[in-house]
Amino acid sequence: MDIMNLIGTNNIYTTRLLLRKFTLDDAQSMFDNYCHDEAVCKFMTRNPHRDINDTKEILSNYFTKYNNETYKWAITLLSEPEKGVIGSIDFTKLDIESCTAEVGYCLSKAYWNKGIMTEAFKSIINYFFNELKGLRLEACFELGNDASEKVMIKCGLKKSCRIETNYLPLKNKNVVVQYYYIDKTTFINNTY
Ligand SMILES: CC(C)(COP(=O)(O)OP(=O)(O)OC[C@H]1O[C@@H](n2cnc3c(N)ncnc32)[C@H](O)[C@@H]1OP(=O)(O)O)[C@@H](O)C(=O)NCCC(=O)NCCS
Repeated sequence: MDIMNLIGTNNIYTTRLLLRKFTLDDAQSMFDNYCHDEAVCKFMTRNPHRDINDTKEILSNYFTKYNNETYKWAITLLSEPEKGVIGSIDFTKLDIESCTAEVGYCLSKAYWNKGIMTEAFKSIINYFFNELKGLRLEACFELGNDASEKVMIKCGLKKSCRIETNYLPLKNKNVVVQYYYIDKTTFINNTY
């Protein structure tokens, strides 16, 4: 049986980014940079935060509760650390038995189309296969979210036959999502 190496959320450095754990001090920059923004939330499962208290609540109830099975990174810029957190990337689902995970991400609109999420996602793929010893990584996007599909393709993921209709309770609507995936064999044969 394959066993994952569950080392938790550690710092990851890329050319332009530091991916790190969230802290309670991140609420203001998260709210200002992306949590409040309708454009960022359009294709996400949650609604925009109304005020910073919404952000503080998810930070304390969810984002900062780390253990070795929690993988949530705050995306920060090495060149502009004062901007705080400009986005997030995480394993929304981790299945230790099958050594698989699902990835979710979002980024402040001010930084879209600069290759930032592609850079972040590639580093997470590396972490998943090289450090955690995972076997298969999946991600999905709502049909119409072309930028997200493009990120998946640029990161070497392949289109899966898995298409699902999901109910989003916070938005009270159904959405159709398309899955992409990358497995260990494809990862080994790719250059990251
Ligand atoms: C999806 C998202 C994370 C992409 O982040 P990003 O840093 O802008 O992504 P990148 O710059 O690495 O790549 C985006 C690619 O999509 C392309 N793109 C952007 N908008 C597009 C559109 N409407 N239609 C087609 N392609 C589009 C860009 O041109 C770029 O491709 P290129 O490098 O070949 O030019 C960002 O748009 C975002 O946070 N969106 C809101 C939250 C969200 O949708 N999260 C994902 C839920 S599945």
